[in-house]
Amino acid sequence: MEDLKRKIDKLKSAKNAVILAHNYQIEEVQLIADYLGDSLELSKIASKTGNKMIVFAGVKFMAETAKILSPQKIVLLPRLDAGCPMADMITVDELKELKQEHKNAKVVTYVNSSVDIKAESDVCCTSANAVSVVKNIDADEVIFIPDRNLGTYVGKMVPEKKIILFEGYCYVHDRIKKEEIEEMRNFYPEAEFLVHPEARMEVINLADKVFSTSGMLKYAKKSDKKQFVIITEQGLIERLKRENPEKEFYPAVKPKICSNMKRTALIDIFNSLEKNQYEINIEESILQRAYNALNKMLRYI
Ligand code: 13P
Ligand code: SF4
Repeated sequence: MEDLKRKIDKLKSAKNAVILAHNYQIEEVQLIADYLGDSLELSKIASKTGNKMIVFAGVKFMAETAKILSPQKIVLLPRLDAGCPMADMITVDELKELKQEHKNAKVVTYVNSSVDIKAESDVCCTSANAVSVVKNIDADEVIFIPDRNLGTYVGKMVPEKKIILFEGYCYVHDRIKKEEIEEMRNFYPEAEFLVHPEARMEVINLADKVFSTSGMLKYAKKSDKKQFVIITEQGLIERLKRENPEKEFYPAVKPKICSNMKRTALIDIFNSLEKNQYEINIEESILQRAYNALNKMLRYI
């Protein structure tokens, strides 16, 4: 393992590459990353980095987002099979139909979406800024895609706007049951419950705070509480424990695992750097339109 890490470091310098990793990645990947974060933090880094190459340890939509924001750079996704099922739930035809039905609405698209869908959208958002983007967009009606759970939460936080939802969801967060949260409350009455907004509203309603993955991290670091129940994917819990050894972190009753986020191992990062695989390429006309929606998001926050 140490040998592999050394080889990765050497290749990284030789190729002027930076490794970005999402908070749900396996621990050995989290530890080798130059930057670890949520979708918003990683998008901002991707848009600013001076490196020639970005290796994205995450899922495909994240690497595509990096490419859209830094088109002149080589962006690599170490595992081609690391996708996000939610991102594939809506088609361009379905979105066009929604736009046709709601002509006055603006389209706010969660970054967990394909490039083609971003290109058809007014603005993108992440879990960290969805509420603020919807609040600030100059429209009273918003088509929010593809996550119906995040859209429902946003609708609750921005009651003055009409939110039109689409039936997409994250299979990891959507299956968290409210009974699990109730059970954990009995086990850990002193704990603070932090939930990701991709969970269902009935689960969000039982939590104390709603955050993106990095939002949970920042909050847990500064909170006086010693125990937390973390209602999101397991990878974040590993980071929370590592960075706050004096505090306790528990998952909802059954640990939640995104298999796509667990596909990338150190050997894949090494292969990616050595063979320049798998390069993300996006057709110019689509890239420009998707860039507009993403860049607009970065201007809102
Ligand atoms: P964050 O942007 O909160 O890290 O979420 C990304 C994601 O895919 C959640 O399932
Ligand atoms: Fe997609 Fe859910 Fe996995 Fe996030 S946790 S990448 S939304 S499937």
